[in-house]
Amino acid sequence: METYKRNGIPLSTLNPKFLHTNSTSHTWPFSAIAELIDNAYDPDVCAKQFWIDWTRIKGLDCLSFMDNGAGMNRARLHKMLSFGYSNKEAVKDHIPVGIYGNGFKSGSMRLGMDAIVFTKTKKSMSIGLLSQSYLQAIKAQKIMIPILTFRRDEQNLPEDGASLDAILKYSLFNTEKELFSELRAIISAGPTGTRIIIWNLRTTTSGETEFDFETDKYDIQIRANASENTSDSLAMMPESRYSLRVSECAVNGSCAI
Ligand SMILES: Nc1ncnc2c1ncn2[C@@H]1O[C@H](COP(=O)(O)OP(=O)(O)O)[C@@H](O)[C@H]1O
Ligand SMILES: [Mg+2]
Repeated sequence: METYKRNGIPLSTLNPKFLHTNSTSHTWPFSAIAELIDNAYDPDVCAKQFWIDWTRIKGLDCLSFMDNGAGMNRARLHKMLSFGYSNKEAVKDHIPVGIYGNGFKSGSMRLGMDAIVFTKTKKSMSIGLLSQSYLQAIKAQKIMIPILTFRRDEQNLPEDGASLDAILKYSLFNTEKELFSELRAIISAGPTGTRIIIWNLRTTTSGETEFDFETDKYDIQIRANASENTSDSLAMMPESRYSLRVSECAVNGSCAI
């Protein structure tokens, strides 16, 4: 077995199975969504708006999350998709929610098997893939995260070719044109921002997505039998337990689903 060492001391690396194990900390799916919302409102990102949508891409149900916050350069996106990095500080009295560097990974991988992140700053646009399906397909023994960056000065990195190939082959976006159309969605909302798409969404034992997107087109609701926490009939539960609209409005005072 290949071992990575530093000064002769073996380094710990993360097996792809960790992505699932780590996500089980979220028993309630809205707490996973809250991680993504918190990230957009943390002081270093400061989004003014945040959108959560259900969309269908190539026949698959997806969740999309978009904010018009600061976006990320390549190094930051790499940290976002890796474990244990968080260099957040309070700005005046705006205290960050995330400090452990785990929220995005545990939250996104709780909602679905696969996530792609599109992000734009004033100088660059980057795309990163955190995908359990990809890691399984290539039989990866360690977590790998394809990342590519388009810089405004066009000094793009030649080594991004392998990441581009992996993203086109294993994400829902199989041409560069399709990738650019997602980046354009960010541009339509502001000069900088981040768009996250999650697919292969978690399903119930009967094979339906754990979320019900159809009953109310302006809401995302947890199905009655979706998890141990929602095994009771919905009528017995406060709406904030199963309605994202009610739950988020209660927390943030406004919502844009
Ligand atoms: N929507 C976003 N916009 C800009 N940066 C983000 C966004 N989401 C996550 N990040 C970056 O990714 C890092 C890791 O996020 P996360 O895994 O939630 O850990 P934490 O929030 O504890 O730092 C954040 O510190 C932030 O720098
Ligand atoms: Mg966070």
